[in-house]
Amino acid sequence: MSELQKKIEQVKEVLAEAVRDFSPVTFANSLGAEDMVLTDLIARFQPDIEMFSLDTGRLPQETYDLMQAVRERYSVPLHIYFPESSQVESYVAQSGVNGFYDSVENRKECCRIRKVQPLKRALVGKKAWLTGMRRDQAVTRGSLAVSSFDADHGLQKFNPLLDWTNAEVWEYLKQNDVPYNKLHDRFYPSIGCAPCTRSVTPGEDIRSGRWWWENPENKECGLHVARITPIKRV
Ligand code: ADX
Ligand code: SF4
Repeated sequence: MSELQKKIEQVKEVLAEAVRDFSPVTFANSLGAEDMVLTDLIARFQPDIEMFSLDTGRLPQETYDLMQAVRERYSVPLHIYFPESSQVESYVAQSGVNGFYDSVENRKECCRIRKVQPLKRALVGKKAWLTGMRRDQAVTRGSLAVSSFDADHGLQKFNPLLDWTNAEVWEYLKQNDVPYNKLHDRFYPSIGCAPCTRSVTPGEDIRSGRWWWENPENKECGLHVARITPIKRV
């Protein structure tokens, strides 16, 4: 069995465990490369896992194109959550439509309204959530666990692809002809909102195109907070 096949089998076990012990479970799907691996595995092996995307209203057109492609390719529905319009209106009135460039505080407030608050709604009634985070994506992700209790949201959190490499992610996508965001072909390894994402040059850190004007230790949007307690390694 190849190294990739072994890792696929491990992910299938993690997905099965999540369904067995923590239903209802939901998958936070940003439609990034890692999340497309999980989309494909969930649709094929654990279709009872729900999926959702947070549409911030500022996503690139290529991400919307992929959202549509996912709807056409997979029978598992992708639920879309939007920010509260009144909160967006107040933020824009106070800070400006691109106010997130002015300070880390303004940027985090925009992420709070457009991502963190909608995430809370998406997790209501769930016993676990899944993400596509990998350990080597960022300095902020080195100490994550495959399975841990997420005390901030009050439910179990699984990162099934934690130990996958970027090359393994792409091997899986190509082997299984999985649709992916066309921005990846234009040197966008990590994709978030359009105004806060840019392309990187070869050799640059894969998240260097996200909030590029900030320090690496600030580069989390608040969806993933540090206060988590690992309970076991898979
Ligand atoms: S983040 O800083 O934006 O959170 P990244 O794009 O690396 O970083 O995403 C990490 C994980 O957070 C994704 O694998 C996904 O599970 C979740 N996530 C991020 N953005 C979204 C989104 N817009 N909708 C749903 N899940 C998301
Ligand atoms: Fe706002 Fe940028 Fe955060 Fe998107 S990534 S929610 S546009 S600050």
